[in-house]
Amino acid sequence: MKMVAVLIIMAVVFVGAAHSAEKKATNANALKEEMRLLESAYFNLVDSLILNKLNNIEEPFHAVHKAKERTRGALENGELTLPKNHDKMKHFETLDRRFHNNIAGLLALARNNDRKSVEIVTHRLLNACIECHAMFRQ
Ligand code: HEC
Repeated sequence: MKMVAVLIIMAVVFVGAAHSAEKKATNANALKEEMRLLESAYFNLVDSLILNKLNNIEEPFHAVHKAKERTRGALENGELTLPKNHDKMKHFETLDRRFHNNIAGLLALARNNDRKSVEIVTHRLLNACIECHAMFRQ
């Protein structure tokens, strides 16, 4: 009986510790998490464009949007450090804002089934990935 109680206490402590470690990692790595979601949303976008299924584009961007809110929080709390050119944070924020506005535009175009414009914005987004990484990613 005593042994069971000890095991239960150990399990509770372990789960609690794992939970708080996870929470910390979530904030510190918010940008990386956002980027992984963005990568898969972008690949899905390219796929949907190639196969002309524009109504498949939007869904994965919802998770990107949620992750973006966490990144913004981490930035405001000073929990996030850019791997390169951290002192040019204002420029990062400008690129980031422009990027997310382009995504909002993209989703509206996809809803309207405007294939040619979706194609143009998809190229623009790719250029933006490369530009921002060259500046801020190690
Ligand atoms: C406004 C700036 C910005 C834009 C735009 C941007 N990224 Fe990133 N991305 C970053 C930064 C900064 C990192 C490095 C994060 C780190 O290592 O902490 C990064 C890292 C990544 C990573 C690596 C994540 C990891 O686990 O290490 C991937 C994948 C990625 N980005 C994909 C993309 C794709 C795809 C696009 C365009 C569709 C894009 N990014 C657009 C800033 C940006």
